[in-house]
Amino acid sequence: MKFFMDTAEIDEIRPLVETGLVDGVTTNPSLIMQSGRDIFEVTKEICDLVDGPVSAEVAATDYETMVREAAALYDIADNVCLKVPLTKDGLKTCKYFTDQKKMVNVTLCFSATQALLAAKAGATFISPFVGRLDDIAHDGMSLIQDIRIIYDNYDFNTQILVASTRHNMHILDSALIGADVVTLPPKVLHQLFKHPLTDTGLAAFLEDWQKTGQSIAD
Ligand code: G3P
Repeated sequence: MKFFMDTAEIDEIRPLVETGLVDGVTTNPSLIMQSGRDIFEVTKEICDLVDGPVSAEVAATDYETMVREAAALYDIADNVCLKVPLTKDGLKTCKYFTDQKKMVNVTLCFSATQALLAAKAGATFISPFVGRLDDIAHDGMSLIQDIRIIYDNYDFNTQILVASTRHNMHILDSALIGADVVTLPPKVLHQLFKHPLTDTGLAAFLEDWQKTGQSIAD
């Protein structure tokens, strides 16, 4: 399962890229706003930092303008993945670019039938928002399960990119279901490293090691 970082904060992306665990990045208009950066400048910097796909989202809602915005966004770098909303114009734009072998991430997916449409439009990634479904007392992860079944039934190549992840269980359940990608806010990736038994176990090992009086590297 690939890990994408769901942020436009360069200072948060860089140290995580250095761990070797980051396979891509997703951004959206809200994340660009929070970064306070120009979309073209910050997307270019992220594309230079990360080898994998970097999703950059259109702001238009009509097909013609989306296509013009897409051309400008794809121009930033070879690893830009266009992000379009799950609307009729968004899927038309998706089909137009995936027919040309360009990467497209279809975002704001909240139902399995929407995901079916995105796959038929040739989407590279479908982004179902699990956290926002949980927020309104729906089961976000059952949507991922349904999409997995539908895509496997018909051998769709569209990758399931679990978005709006908020905590460890979203990541664990995504892996158990067989999602292709999860996009994580940096704090969720930091949480994955943590276990209290790792901390107490390490403290005990270090204490005992001190008592041996040995050193390994010096
Ligand atoms: O990339 C879009 C998605 O991950 C948004 O997450 O937390 O704003 O629902 P959130």
